[in-house]
Amino acid sequence: MTTSPLLANTREELADALRGLEGPVGFVPTMGALHAGHASLMERARKEIGADAPVVVSIFVNPMQFAAGEDLDRYPRTFETDLEVCAAEGVDVVFAPSVDEVYPGGDPQVTVDPGPIARVLEGSTRPTHFRGVLTVVAKLLGLVRPDVAVFGEKDYQQLVLIRRMVSDLCMGVDVIGGAIVREDDGLALSSRNRYLDEGQRRRAVVLSRALFAAREAGPRGAAAVLEAAHQELGRVDGVDLDYLELTDPDLGPVPDSGPARLLVAARLGSTRLIDNVALTLNGDN
Ligand code: PAF
Repeated sequence: MTTSPLLANTREELADALRGLEGPVGFVPTMGALHAGHASLMERARKEIGADAPVVVSIFVNPMQFAAGEDLDRYPRTFETDLEVCAAEGVDVVFAPSVDEVYPGGDPQVTVDPGPIARVLEGSTRPTHFRGVLTVVAKLLGLVRPDVAVFGEKDYQQLVLIRRMVSDLCMGVDVIGGAIVREDDGLALSSRNRYLDEGQRRRAVVLSRALFAAREAGPRGAAAVLEAAHQELGRVDGVDLDYLELTDPDLGPVPDSGPARLLVAARLGSTRLIDNVALTLNGDN
């Protein structure tokens, strides 16, 4: 049997709901359009805090992380289905505030400066994105005050930056990365996959194929990794590569050997997809 989560739309309702909870709080911030990837983050939160402790999910499409011309207006909003996903995952509280509730005075005067990591990869084409992400995550953490917060590894740069913010600003929450959930053919689940038409959906699988081929090449070193990925990407037309970058796990320079991360972003028509994979260079995969 599934029980509906408590729904809080305002800060006061959230505070009331939190007052009634006992035990460490697990938190999964989302922008809604929930899919199996989000459900796995909720499961991870539950696993981290224990079966009887409360899980809070926020659903808020944050205007501050979208630049003009990005997909804020067409970003999928599927609130009723989202509530069903949360209920099926045994979520205790859903916080779904309005824009005015999160930004009561309009754009905030004080925001989080995400620093140099926000200027590479996603940041090179979306220069204001991570300021918006970190500012809203800081606000949500301040409102929910969780012990554990879970973010998906699919948005890997976001995860690295949130960890950095929490550490640099002493926010006292345990940040956990949830593994990427994939379709059977390898495509990483994303709320934006629903924008793809049939042909684009078929071609999109080349991103994960490239990453998996690259991971296999890890023991042969960085050059072999990049070559393997480019070879796969070159097999399919209509996939406009934005970046393919090999870094260390903290998005620093590529190490000679050991753990590394390969990140990719590409456009299929007007839809931009990202994906990434962990791999090991010059060692066993
Ligand atoms: O990953 C997301 O869905 C968003 O960037 C987040 C972390 C909920 C902030 O709006």
